[in-house]
Amino acid sequence: MLSWDDYNEPQPSAGSMPPPALTAEPAIQVNEPTVTPATPAAPEKQNIQTQPTAVSSDGPNTEVAAAPPPALPVEPASQERVTVDQKAMINCRADLNQLVPFKYDWAWQKYLDGCANHWMPQEVNMTADIALWKSDDGLTNDERTIVKRNLGFFSTADSLVANNLVLAIYRLITNPECRQYLLRQAFEEAIHTHAYQYCIESLGMDEGEIFNMYHEIPCVAEKASWALQYTQEISDPTFKTGTFDTDQTLLKNLIAYYCVLEGIFFYCGFTQILSMGRRNKMTGTSEQFQYILRDESMHVNFGIDVINQIKLENPHLWDESLQATARNMILDGTRLEIQYARDTMPRGVLGMNANMMEEYLQFIANRRLAQIGLAEQFPNVKNPFPWMSEIMDLKKEKNFFETRVTDYQTGGALSWD
Ligand SMILES: [Fe+2]
Ligand SMILES: [Fe+2]
Repeated sequence: MLSWDDYNEPQPSAGSMPPPALTAEPAIQVNEPTVTPATPAAPEKQNIQTQPTAVSSDGPNTEVAAAPPPALPVEPASQERVTVDQKAMINCRADLNQLVPFKYDWAWQKYLDGCANHWMPQEVNMTADIALWKSDDGLTNDERTIVKRNLGFFSTADSLVANNLVLAIYRLITNPECRQYLLRQAFEEAIHTHAYQYCIESLGMDEGEIFNMYHEIPCVAEKASWALQYTQEISDPTFKTGTFDTDQTLLKNLIAYYCVLEGIFFYCGFTQILSMGRRNKMTGTSEQFQYILRDESMHVNFGIDVINQIKLENPHLWDESLQATARNMILDGTRLEIQYARDTMPRGVLGMNANMMEEYLQFIANRRLAQIGLAEQFPNVKNPFPWMSEIMDLKKEKNFFETRVTDYQTGGALSWD
């Protein structure tokens, strides 16, 4: 059994880490033109994020808090207007406080698409689920296991993603339109965690049992801890990109989270719960998962675009060694997800079984490999669940107006009278 604490050893816990963003990064980009004279050596490969001594060794946090806001463009040299050519995915020298001019239209478009897909868990009617869950003969034991295991895995997995975004990735991606999407994604992760909590509460489950599953159930714990190791590599506030090694470390984190955690680890559970919904069981829970799946497929697409753009701008990073590492990470993740499938489906259930899920996960893994420019590793596998692709493309309007409860108001509908 994995010990979760092992992964937290360097720091007390992911949740209690000091907020890395406070240490300075905005200042850097703004003041970039002035970072010149003293160090002649290899300027272009140095981390531009070299910051003033924000982390004082002798003083506690109060000194940092009392320091003037570093990001304001007070120096004449920083008043240069931003051009598209100055913008870059990582190690950028342009002012990060200015969203425009856009360089990556795809990132802005994904932000707009994410906002257009906005939804909230309370909009989904859970009445039928509650009745089914509480009835003695509504679900088989295998079906109940599937519901509990997946709520157990997902209720903490989206927090791992959110923490990785906010505490690790965000400050290292130095492009404002991508950051705009990351902020949207972070909120969507909060909505997803809210959705799982809403299901758990509605069904009257033991919250401690479900939320603590990532400590207690090996196949859940292994997936979570596999991802967390990548967060810990870059969430240290002193971690900086700007060297060959650290830039590669950031890329590994992006591959771990976007290609594997969100791109593979979610797919067995999504398929199981959605299959249940297709059989008219746990339809509210299944609908929550449908909206989450739609969001997640956009997160994966965004992350893959980011990875490929970083590769394009820094081709030296994508060497054979990193390609081999990325391939192994995806294969490793696939293995863990197949293990999860076997654990949650010891027998055939809901018209599927672990062997079918294995083929599906290999199909997904091939796709993730190809999306970042690597060769497929599982020849001749087919998608045994083509209906999953249709659900991912679901238009919110087509479904929502048939099922949404009416006591929820969106911001646009609020009255101030
Ligand atoms: Fe999520
Ligand atoms: Fe996500």
